[in-house]
Amino acid sequence: MQTVNDKLKLLREKTQHVLLGGGKDRLEAQHKAGKMTAHERLHLMFDNGFYDELYRFAEHRATLFGLQDKDIPADGVVTGLGAIGGRLVYASSQDFTVMGGSVGDMHAWKICEMMDMALKAGAPYVSINDSGGARIQEGVDSLKGYGRIFYYNTLLSGVVPQIAVVAGPCAGGAAYSPALMDFIVMVQGTGQLFIAGPEVIKQATGEVISAEELGGAHAQASQSGNVHFIARDDADAMEIVQKLLSYLPSNNMEESPSMPTDGLLMIEDESLNKVVPDDSRDSYDMFEILNRVFDKDSIFEVHAHYAKNMITCFARMNGQVVGVFANQPCEMFGAIDIDASDKAARFIRFCNAFNIPIIAFVDVPGYLPGVEQEFGGIIRHGAKMLFSLSAATVPKITIVVRKAYGGAYLAMSAKSLGADRVAAWPTAEIAVMGAEGAVSVLYRSELKTAEDPKAKRKELIEDYKAKFSTPYQAAARGMVDAVIEPKNTRSYISVALESLRNKRDLRPQKKHGLIPL
Ligand code: HXC
Repeated sequence: MQTVNDKLKLLREKTQHVLLGGGKDRLEAQHKAGKMTAHERLHLMFDNGFYDELYRFAEHRATLFGLQDKDIPADGVVTGLGAIGGRLVYASSQDFTVMGGSVGDMHAWKICEMMDMALKAGAPYVSINDSGGARIQEGVDSLKGYGRIFYYNTLLSGVVPQIAVVAGPCAGGAAYSPALMDFIVMVQGTGQLFIAGPEVIKQATGEVISAEELGGAHAQASQSGNVHFIARDDADAMEIVQKLLSYLPSNNMEESPSMPTDGLLMIEDESLNKVVPDDSRDSYDMFEILNRVFDKDSIFEVHAHYAKNMITCFARMNGQVVGVFANQPCEMFGAIDIDASDKAARFIRFCNAFNIPIIAFVDVPGYLPGVEQEFGGIIRHGAKMLFSLSAATVPKITIVVRKAYGGAYLAMSAKSLGADRVAAWPTAEIAVMGAEGAVSVLYRSELKTAEDPKAKRKELIEDYKAKFSTPYQAAARGMVDAVIEPKNTRSYISVALESLRNKRDLRPQKKHGLIPL
């Protein structure tokens, strides 16, 4: 008869066996490859290194290709829950040391269980990816598993935040789970993300490219925009997850956690009056403004490597989390192109889904002109900004810093798209188009017949600028609530946020809107 001690011993042995994953050699190989193990990553991510592992003893039921007798500890994925910043989070962490972290039926089921629990608990879900993809021996069972993962990713979307960490291979169809989540953190050097790898591409198109150039963190962050954050290594990735979660509510029924404040609600910053250059053709760094306006060191940039002409970041104002999108005049003069539109629209929709007020800083000469942009669908992509802002019901506050021309002015959260508060700096130029373009259209015949066309053109431009390249025409029509000194921007936003704390904006019931995709 087995004694209680025997049974305890058996439990400890089984636990020890499963915790060793693919065994000592494979754990060493994992470290040699510059990667942490599935458990080490979770240990670093959760508060005090503590997490509750669920389904540790789950086993596969596959019988083909020699799998019937194969021991696959935890079926290649560690799943569980713990706290991050004191709040509940569910997670899965693929174990590459066990059959390359490949996704079998049970592996996928465990992941879906975590998502189901996260959904019911209203807690964020973090998925750490390090896998060779579908477990080839399990065939369609594996495909079914991926299908369920995608289904759950979609169920969770907009209800609880979902963060994917790509810390190893994540190729083929497997890449679609991170793509369905809200943010992707990718580890440089070890993470790989692509649908078809270099070999397949070479056979299909003859193009030659290395795996890193194609699917590495930098390529996927700056070229495709799939990746939101680049991590130096696994430890850095876990820190990024922790920091990101500190800005997010646990679910769509809650608000982001506030930080204790130092009560500097009405602080003035004289240096803000000097950021915008006298000549409106000169550029400056929008971060000079953002860093001064929001709480010290609170700016947390999202998608920093993609479409740099559009800034998207979380920040805090008197401890309250806000989402900021802003034109960046020192990149492409802040013009809005296809990528910038997609980047901003996606961020705006995330903020709206999770009750985060949206603040726009505007200095935009217009949508980027060009055949490539037109044929690439700037109309459809640019419309995403108009749609996402019009549909957003969270508090929306806009600061027009300088240029705000044409459709791009509207796309940067104009009053007519439902912005709750719009303030302009005295340097604002709110008009249908820039003075040079306007004069060319309005005075074509006068300029043709003028004695000195160059001088006449200059005079007309100055006249247009004085009349229209100011905030006052917009202020006269109620399109801006206030023209403020830049130094008062922080207090303007503070008061606006406070006054919008209980904002209600009810819309007609519908299944969902049809954002131009
Ligand atoms: C079963 C797999 C596996 C897989 C890796 N392994 N991927 N087992 N199914 N998909 C196993 C290997 O056989 C090996 O086992 C162990 O994991 C470690 O793999 P290595 O190849 O030794 O590691 P490494 O050299 O680092 O290469 C990693 C890799 C490579 C680049 C990921 O393993 C690879 O190319 N794997 C296959 C990728 C693939 O084609 N996946 C299916 C894609 S189809 P042993 O015991 O030999 O050490 C797909 C469809 C999903 O994913 C569709 C969803 C919509």
